[in-house]
Amino acid sequence: MMFNKQSYKFRQKELLKKVKSGLILLFGNEESPMNYTDNPYRFRQDSAFLYYFGLSRPGLIALLDVSVGEVTIYGDDFTIEDFVWMGKQPKVAELASLCGVEQTGSLSDLYKRITGAKQKKETLHFLPQYRHDNVLKLMDLTGFTSPQIKSDVSNELILAVVSQRNYKTDEEITEIEKGIDITVDMHVRAMRMVEPGMSELDVVVEIEKIARAAGGDISFPTIATINGQTLHNHYHGNTLENGQLFLLDCGAETPMGYAGDLSSTFPVGKTFSNIQKDIYSLVLNAHYASVDFLKPGIPFREAHRAACLTITKGLNDLGLMKGDAESAVNAGAHALFFPCGTGHMMGLDIHDMENLGEEFVGYDGEPKSTQFGLKSLRLSRKLEPGFVLTIEPGIYFIPELTDQWRAEGKFKEFLNYDEIDKFRNFGGIRNEENYLITAGGKRLLGTKKKPISIEEVEALRKS
Ligand code: GLY
Ligand code: MN
Repeated sequence: MMFNKQSYKFRQKELLKKVKSGLILLFGNEESPMNYTDNPYRFRQDSAFLYYFGLSRPGLIALLDVSVGEVTIYGDDFTIEDFVWMGKQPKVAELASLCGVEQTGSLSDLYKRITGAKQKKETLHFLPQYRHDNVLKLMDLTGFTSPQIKSDVSNELILAVVSQRNYKTDEEITEIEKGIDITVDMHVRAMRMVEPGMSELDVVVEIEKIARAAGGDISFPTIATINGQTLHNHYHGNTLENGQLFLLDCGAETPMGYAGDLSSTFPVGKTFSNIQKDIYSLVLNAHYASVDFLKPGIPFREAHRAACLTITKGLNDLGLMKGDAESAVNAGAHALFFPCGTGHMMGLDIHDMENLGEEFVGYDGEPKSTQFGLKSLRLSRKLEPGFVLTIEPGIYFIPELTDQWRAEGKFKEFLNYDEIDKFRNFGGIRNEENYLITAGGKRLLGTKKKPISIEEVEALRKS
């Protein structure tokens, strides 16, 4: 499944315009073996490679020659021996024509091309690498050591790629909305099925089936837990009990590689308790306080601050925090309950382009805070039409963190530790939605809507 070849040709041409000189190398991924070479994990193409070429086939490397404006895809054709095991496969040249690339070559042609380029001292632009096999290939091609592969990445290329991929086109938004709709189905299924006595794994197995059945897969490891206070909790061994909260953070990726990323929190029993309702409502208030800030020209850090302030004021009202809310947020005291960010960019990756560096994708070169909590904010920059991002503030009661801060006497002026201690077994609450920044403001993405209000969630739990 691919977009029309004109889309890829346009993206390639734009990239060639944005980089001033030299050669651009874009690495596709290889198969990734689980326990021996022929037993691989599911193949996932590199997202930048998917963006420019749309080809989901292992072992391809693209070279864009800026001086002559030429694009070549290198890769070795499968042989008759491969066909015996895999069935007939298209030639690299046939694949390349699908994305508007006329020039192809073998991997040994690429080595010759790069050897020539090195002799002519042409600049080689490459992105940060997250797969070790591609690091090794780059080392072989360039003669660099592995630390040089890290230090010599091309910031010019990163900025060029980010300046294209951050702005989603209509056809990309349609794809993202497909991913979100499948993700909504996963959440609704979980909200309907959860019952005391089930295991977390029962829910995971059932909802991941929905992502697979839609032709793609999950977009990141599913978080489905009664310990929602653990932010990226991938343990699924607990049995669900009445009275607990269940936090689900999951997503589907479409066959073309576009992601959805939604979170819900709902009771294991049929209804929320009163205190669960209080904290849930507060998280929802924080959610919509940040949504209100979404429009072009507003830095996302202000949407994040709005969520932090709402949470702090609400926890003041509930007697868990005290003192001036602005001062508490400035100091970072609220991070005991909200130690992460309000959202991130989303696209071909659920944390879009995280491999290229948050400072380029989410910060536009602005410095990042080192304060606990704020340093985990992945997106801060001024919003622009075409950005697709998540909104996902939460409140988490993390006993280990509370105990440590209490022992250190940290932020005693803002935190009522005796009251907070009563929430040791509460867990965590997060809701997550995906938004597009439009010229006039924002649009909630997805043609299906995930239940989010207390009434909507309880209605499903009782259905
Ligand atoms: N949904 C997982 C995350 O945003 O980190
Ligand atoms: Mn997310």
